[in-house]
Amino acid sequence: MSKSTISSAVSGGIEASDRVLNGERVLRIRGHQPLHGKVRIGGAKNAALKALAATLLTSEEVVLNNIPMIADVISMVELLRSFGAEVEIDRDRERVVVRTREIIRTDAPPDLFKATRASVVVTGPILARCGEISFSMPGGDDIGKRPIDMHLRGFQRMGAEVIQNQQGISAKASRLNGARIYMDYPSHTGTEALMMAATLAVGTTIIANASAEPEIVWLGNMLNRMGARVSGLGTAIIAVEGVDRLSGVSEVCLPDRLEAGTYAIAAVITGGEIELKDIREAHMLPLTEKLLQAGANVWFRDNRMLVRAGERLNAVDIQTLPFPGFPTDQQSTFMPLLTQANGISRVQERVYEDRLRYTDELIKMGADIQVERFGANLEKYATTAIVTGPTRLHGARVKSLDIRSAVSLVLAALVADGKTELTDVYHIDRGYARFVEKLTALGADIEDSGNPVENR
Ligand code: EPU
Repeated sequence: MSKSTISSAVSGGIEASDRVLNGERVLRIRGHQPLHGKVRIGGAKNAALKALAATLLTSEEVVLNNIPMIADVISMVELLRSFGAEVEIDRDRERVVVRTREIIRTDAPPDLFKATRASVVVTGPILARCGEISFSMPGGDDIGKRPIDMHLRGFQRMGAEVIQNQQGISAKASRLNGARIYMDYPSHTGTEALMMAATLAVGTTIIANASAEPEIVWLGNMLNRMGARVSGLGTAIIAVEGVDRLSGVSEVCLPDRLEAGTYAIAAVITGGEIELKDIREAHMLPLTEKLLQAGANVWFRDNRMLVRAGERLNAVDIQTLPFPGFPTDQQSTFMPLLTQANGISRVQERVYEDRLRYTDELIKMGADIQVERFGANLEKYATTAIVTGPTRLHGARVKSLDIRSAVSLVLAALVADGKTELTDVYHIDRGYARFVEKLTALGADIEDSGNPVENR
């Protein structure tokens, strides 16, 4: 087994790694190459990170397979280690093995906690196993306010004393009790943190208006294989009957529907054809529907999806919603395709109030996108984009704002005239494994001036 050394390389700072010797790290992309071929889809970031957090619920060994070797996973591993977990990463086999015999601290190190949004999910297991947790606000993409009030209210309902002040947030309960919890919105991480906390509570917890995202269903099933009693997964009401202890498990992470969607869009926008291997058809439904409406061709067979560009791209309207609605995470990756479609498309972002800022970068490349903004004074949020197409895009120097917008700009660059230079590339490392390698194998003309996380 080749043990990974990437964690130590990454812990020096992912952003710092974007500063390469000859200046800033950039992706250089030349457009107009139709993409063809096959690509294997890796494990889902938003499931892998939560499975890593779930390992803290047991003192036994947990083996996680098909874990994407991305920077956010490395950040989560560092966070687990800070709590006393022994973690082995085998990056060739995409496997992570965790054993947390004892949790050695209940105060989360702020720097590690701020590295991702997913770190908030460890609060559930640590509170359940140790009776206390203190932490600061988690980090993650800057796409809106992203509060954690629902997570905290849930802990309070389960009997924890929650204190929030300038020093940070703490939650304490000698043992959590089952409770009825209502969430104002089906929060993804909120459902995960509360579902995990409830596994070791006394009695039954009901989470109403729970998130039904596929990653949560998968996580709940993993918890059940560890000995938890979770039911209602995939519905708006999740019930968790508390147990005394959970045991170790060996799991295979489910495929990343967002990575799959990215390559599906790449096939259509470049006028090519790509076969995606290792996907789940049911998880691809919202994107598939929009690709078909746009005029693309899509076939499924076993765990494979074939996507081929059609004769003409049609404008389509999109509104982002919790699963099975169209994913907010796919909104930015679909946008470049709409710039190439005939007619006017409307994109309504209904999950995050500020997830359309990256359209300014697409506009620099020639896109015709009008964004409706609202809000007083400095807080001007954008929720609807009106895209008129088709427009001829041209290369430009553009900046990634977050994981999905970075990839959106790469997709736009694949059909732009001339050369695009993308900066702040570390966002891609956070969420996509072997991105440049996979695109190059499909025929893209793309070059990375730096060193992606998987090679460090
Ligand atoms: N919200 C609240 N209060 C809360 C929690 C959420 O008001 O206590 C609001 C948020 O401000 C937002 C909405 O509810 O407007 C949805 O937020 P949610 O909690 O569902 O999002 P999240 O759990 O923070 C996860 C993913 C995101 C993905 C969203 C929606 C992880 C680590 N992140 O975030 O993924 O966009 O669910 O599906 O699981 C990405 O992968 O690029 C990414 C941003």
